[in-house]
Amino acid sequence: MDDAPVGPHRLWRMELPPLDFRRLFDAAPSLYLLLTPDLVIVAANDAFLRGTMTRREDIVGRPLFEVFPDVPERSAGAGLGSLRASLERVLKERVPDEVPMQRYDLPLPDGRLERRYWNIRNSPVLGPDGEVALVLHIAEDMTEVVRRREAEMEHDRRNEELRARAGKMAAEIYLRAQQVEDANRRLRQLNDELSASAQSEREALNALRRTQSILVQTEKLAALGQMVAGVAHEINNPLAFVTNNLAVAQRDFEAVASLLSLYRRADVDIADAQPELAAQIAAGAERIDLDYTLGNLGPLFARSRDGLKRIRQIVEDLRTFARLDESDLHEIDINPGIESTANIIRGRARKKNVEIVLALEPVPTIACYPGKVNQVVMNLLSNAIDASPASSQVRCRTAPGGDGGVVIEVVDSGTGIDPAIVDRIFDPFFTTKPQGEGTGLGLSISYGIVQDHGGSISVASTPGAGACFTVRLPPRPPAREPTSYERMP
Ligand SMILES: Nc1ncnc2c1ncn2[C@@H]1O[C@H](COP(=O)(O)OP(=O)(O)O)[C@@H](O)[C@H]1O
Ligand SMILES: [Mg+2]
Repeated sequence: MDDAPVGPHRLWRMELPPLDFRRLFDAAPSLYLLLTPDLVIVAANDAFLRGTMTRREDIVGRPLFEVFPDVPERSAGAGLGSLRASLERVLKERVPDEVPMQRYDLPLPDGRLERRYWNIRNSPVLGPDGEVALVLHIAEDMTEVVRRREAEMEHDRRNEELRARAGKMAAEIYLRAQQVEDANRRLRQLNDELSASAQSEREALNALRRTQSILVQTEKLAALGQMVAGVAHEINNPLAFVTNNLAVAQRDFEAVASLLSLYRRADVDIADAQPELAAQIAAGAERIDLDYTLGNLGPLFARSRDGLKRIRQIVEDLRTFARLDESDLHEIDINPGIESTANIIRGRARKKNVEIVLALEPVPTIACYPGKVNQVVMNLLSNAIDASPASSQVRCRTAPGGDGGVVIEVVDSGTGIDPAIVDRIFDPFFTTKPQGEGTGLGLSISYGIVQDHGGSISVASTPGAGACFTVRLPPRPPAREPTSYERMP
């Protein structure tokens, strides 16, 4: 050092404290060991003592492999064998040698072994003769690095495991999501099917209701028709003989009356011959007001004949109206049926002080079920009467239809129909009338009848000003399957 070159180096040499190689050796962070060529420990620095957990006085002066015997079971793997081989190489070849990551199992004071990893370098320290005088053994403790790397590897492994698990979970979730989606799809499908079947069930129910109402009504009508026909028939017989008898009675009474007036010419003679009898006759004649009675007889008979004629008309109307038993098509003029129907319902109209006015134009004959057409007119008239205020009119008009059929109109100036319900008035059981008054069947039955005829029924209404129902019937119904009406016995 003394012959260090002059110049800038002098400067730092001057300021450098005196070097103590012993202290430098001990302060070095690596593990230093100085060996003789026969591998006896000459010196060990503090780091070595700490790292090997030995004491200087226990190891210095002793052969290396005596202090650290090569016990194979203690040092698995290369053990001290590779250290020995390295030292031998250094001694022989006089060049530094490395043993990277040498693993040692160091005995702890309590007898346990602690695994440590060392990077080892052995360097020859040559003497003046060029021979190896000492061997410097340097060890870098790599245990922490190895542990860190192990920890990192473990961490990576865990991460990898987690990633793999996450991947698996994602796949599982995907699978489950798909299963859920499938289930949802099936559910939706089932739901659709369910609501479709619910819908068709509702439709079936409606159809059933309609059929039921038709059945009930048809049955009622058939029963009514039979009863009316029976009553009309029963009335007809007595009506015929009462009419006959009345004619006979009138003729006979007239004969007796003219005979009586002949007798009365003999009044004076009787008074002369038998005053008592004459007084009796005069008293009797006065008691019965003979003159008035004889004079009233003619009008009396006339009024009775009128009454009988009306009864005959009613019976006739009933029979015309009640042609319900006729399930065959008839080629008819509908006007007389409408007249009869109006006649029958007039009584009801009169109670409300409603007048039924007919305006029946000549119409072509059409093929129809006459009783059913009457039934439609009856339903329309009775609804019109129900809706009409007192002292108003219900008009029923017929006219030829453009297609060779007929048009029937029933017009009232009553309440009219709220637009909110106009779509529903043809539904079975739809009624705005109080319970017991309305069945809600009239229009739905009429709708069915008109449809069976291949016709149409429509309504125009101004709420508060009245309603007009229009029925159009074609010249004949379209050929088709018999409907429930016709199948009815
Ligand atoms: N001419 C009319 N004016 C006003 N409303 C009517 C008329 N005709 C029918 N409607 C309405 O249509 C409903 C259904 O009529 P309908 O089927 O004959 O049953 P119902 O007469 O038993 O109520 C009636 O309740 C009424 O609200
Ligand atoms: Mg009605």
